[in-house]
Amino acid sequence: MISDLSVDIAGMKLQNPVMLASGTAGYGEDIARYCDLNHIGAIIVKGIALKPSNGNPPPRICETPSGMLNAIGLPNVGVETFINDKVPFLRNFSARVVVNIFGSTVEEYGEVASALNGVDGVHGLEANISCPNIKEGGIAFGTDIDATRRVVRRIRKSTTLPLIIKLSPNVTDIASFATVCEEEGADAVSLINTLLGMVIDTETWKPKIANITGGLSGPAIRPVAIRMVWQVYNAVNIPVIGMGGITNCQDAVEFFLAGASAVAIGTANFLNPSVSTDIAEGLKTYMQDRNICNLSGITGKMQIP
Ligand SMILES: Cc1cc2nc3c(=O)[nH]c(=O)nc-3n(C[C@H](O)[C@H](O)[C@H](O)COP(=O)(O)O)c2cc1C
Repeated sequence: MISDLSVDIAGMKLQNPVMLASGTAGYGEDIARYCDLNHIGAIIVKGIALKPSNGNPPPRICETPSGMLNAIGLPNVGVETFINDKVPFLRNFSARVVVNIFGSTVEEYGEVASALNGVDGVHGLEANISCPNIKEGGIAFGTDIDATRRVVRRIRKSTTLPLIIKLSPNVTDIASFATVCEEEGADAVSLINTLLGMVIDTETWKPKIANITGGLSGPAIRPVAIRMVWQVYNAVNIPVIGMGGITNCQDAVEFFLAGASAVAIGTANFLNPSVSTDIAEGLKTYMQDRNICNLSGITGKMQIP
């Protein structure tokens, strides 16, 4: 039996459910040399704002047990340069292109979303309301339920593109945030963004990254992500895109069983930039070996004893 890995996420037809997570694959140019963008479902590009910016001062990343801490601070080329200089390259591949957007005001989120409306080669938006590394915007929206409602409403008014909202794990009840996104017309939610963390150098007694705090990603956060995907899956009727510490096919399967309809690979790309295509291949074998015809056969199928 041939298993069908295609999946419909927020109205986007993906050839398989494996995506590259925002911020870990840039605008696709470098990673395309190692990862065949014709063999993954989607690339979620690095966060884009209305205007270009340089991000935070270095050092901006440090290694931790089973993961990394980053406070890159969303450096980006700005939406106009992205459309003119980056989208033409991304159009060469069959991976769907999801643009991760952010802003420092509700209005700005709306303006970035409007600018991307109808751009050939842009298939969907992922609004980052959960970045822990910038002073304004980002997490300020994703950890306040009223701000979440306002920003999702504003973006929804500005775009006809499929709209995914990226949730923050730095809240006590992530399901209530997902519910608000669904009520305001989001087509899907993605989770999790990084967990707020900190590392101190015991020789210098200084924080290891200049921003002092940063976002923790990688295998260390996977059990938290799995728990949150399961909670959100049980709270909403829109698809859930799961991410956080996926390094191989088994990790991805865990997310599907918890309720994800698609997965995104982040930190693992830095260790092995072709890991996503390996995971897509591995998923096919996993399903064929178990006579599972399509992804609905595993999504949310965790067995509670
Ligand atoms: C270096 C780095 C940069 C990131 N930049 C973004 C970003 O621009 N927008 C965003 O929504 N998430 C960003 N993220 C979060 C990832 O997309 C992902 O949600 C998170 O790292 C958890 O997945 P992982 O454990 O597989 O890395 C970034 C993560 C890392 C490690």
